[in-house]
Amino acid sequence: MSRKSLIDAASRARVRAYAPYSKFFVGAALLTKSGKIFAGCNVENISLGLTICAERAAVAAAVADGEKEFAAIAVVTDFREPVFPCGACRQVLAEFNPELEVVTATTQGRSETVSLAELLPRSSQKILEPVRNV
Ligand code: THU
Repeated sequence: MSRKSLIDAASRARVRAYAPYSKFFVGAALLTKSGKIFAGCNVENISLGLTICAERAAVAAAVADGEKEFAAIAVVTDFREPVFPCGACRQVLAEFNPELEVVTATTQGRSETVSLAELLPRSSQKILEPVRNV
C-alpha cells in the first residue's frame, strides 16, 4: 500500500465532510497492518463541541469493522500547509498505536510524515491497566 493511495483515500473522504460551520473539510484514511483502508471525514454539529474530527471518524469505522491494528493514517486538508491531528485525535490514535505513522497532506500536494510518538510523547504509561484487569 503506497502512501500516495492512502492520501488519495483521505482526499476522497474529504469531499464528503460535513463542515457547514467552519467550511474546513478534512479527510482521513487509516491503514491497518493487514492492508485495509478505513476512511473518515469531519462531521460538524451546531453545538460545535460535538463535532467529530476526520481522524476519529476513521478510527470508529475501522473498529466497527473489527480492526484495531493500525500502521498509518493520512490526513488531507486544503490548508496552505499540512495540518496535524488535534490533541484529542492524537490520544485516540495512541490508544491503538503510539508509534503510528502520521502522513499529513494538502490538496496542493505538500506533505509531511511523522511518528505519532513525536506528536504525543509518553502516551503509553498505561495508567488504567490495573482497572482494565479487574
Ligand atoms: N478537523 C479535523 O477533522 N481534523 C483535524 O486534524 C483538524 C480539525 C476538523 C474539526 C472541525 O470540523 C474543523 O476541522 C475545523 O477545526
